[in-house]
Amino acid sequence: MIRIAVVGAGQWGPNLIRNFHNRRTSEVAWVVDRDAGRLEQVRERFPDIQLATDPETVMADGRTDAVVIATPTSTHYALARRALAGGKHVLVEKPITADSTEAEELCSLASGAGRVLMVGHVFVYNPGVQRVRQLLAAGELGRVYYVSMVRTNLGPIRVDVNAAWDLASHDVSVANYWLGSAPLAASAVGGSWINPGVEDAVFATLRYPNDVLVNLHISWLSPRKTREITLVGDRRMLTFDDMNLSEPVRVYDKQVTEVRTPAPYIDSFASFRASLREGDITIPKVALGEPLKAECDHFVECIVDGKPPLTGGREAATVVRALEAVQRSMRAAGREEPV
Ligand SMILES: NC(=O)c1ccc[n+]([C@@H]2O[C@H](COP(=O)([O-])OP(=O)(O)OC[C@H]3O[C@@H](n4cnc5c(N)ncnc54)[C@H](O)[C@@H]3O)[C@@H](O)[C@H]2O)c1
Repeated sequence: MIRIAVVGAGQWGPNLIRNFHNRRTSEVAWVVDRDAGRLEQVRERFPDIQLATDPETVMADGRTDAVVIATPTSTHYALARRALAGGKHVLVEKPITADSTEAEELCSLASGAGRVLMVGHVFVYNPGVQRVRQLLAAGELGRVYYVSMVRTNLGPIRVDVNAAWDLASHDVSVANYWLGSAPLAASAVGGSWINPGVEDAVFATLRYPNDVLVNLHISWLSPRKTREITLVGDRRMLTFDDMNLSEPVRVYDKQVTEVRTPAPYIDSFASFRASLREGDITIPKVALGEPLKAECDHFVECIVDGKPPLTGGREAATVVRALEAVQRSMRAAGREEPV
């Protein structure tokens, strides 16, 4: 039984507490939040969990095996560093930090101490996202041309990081996982209307190896919750809609079948369509399951079996470097920046 301390019981922390307090493979021994009001709510739901307002209480507790950090991004580095220095395994929420040097330092600390450092890139544990990766690995789409990702909602509006750090961290982790590589360059523009200097909406394009483009439309200032992704390959195309719980993935047997050079003179609708192939649309079966539960189970497995996490510090640092390039590009009015 792995004994866990969860630091941060705001909007997201309670989901981590629920999943880790299963008393099968792990139990939450402590919840820490500097807001005593939040702790009172935890006490009502889980009277058996010990509570503290100072993270130092758990960092010094020799019976705590792992610290799970669900506080704002700006606090991740200091808390993760302290936990690793205290010999704890660490699961820190995404993004690991907003600075790649700090992220790398955490990786070195974890490997030096022989501790697991995992980051909550929860979408990598989403069964639909994993199914898409299988389809890509099996060559179902052929060569990938581009990926378009839309992630919008109204809120939550952050003040310590912009929408790219908060939301695009999910998309970059998914794109890296699917494509098996990291972006080479990024160009982006963003707008800040609610809090000066904190972008509410970001439109970014990432250039990956093999001429793959990944486009991101990110906003916490939008009327509708959207999580839609389109992948276009030279053999097939695919859509992923995370809001469609039962049938998130659709594979379109569509492609451009012939490219004639020079293009023939075509002026009829029928002959134009002849150069485009439109076959069946199939809906691959995707197992139902809570991605966060899979993430939490994976963290415990990594501690027990000593295996490297799917979303470890190194993978997370790659996401941070991409987001740093997005940030630089936004400050340079959209100029393409190397990652
Ligand atoms: N994986 C996901 O899908 C997902 C979803 C939401 C949030 N998150 C991540 O979770 C983290 C927290 O987000 P949230 O929406 O819960 O934020 P939040 O602001 O609602 O909650 C943060 C909590 O941390 C507490 N806190 C802050 N600094 C602290 C400190 N130094 N010591 C102890 N407690 C402290 C605050 O009192 C608050 O209760 C962020 O990194 C965010 O990116 C991830």
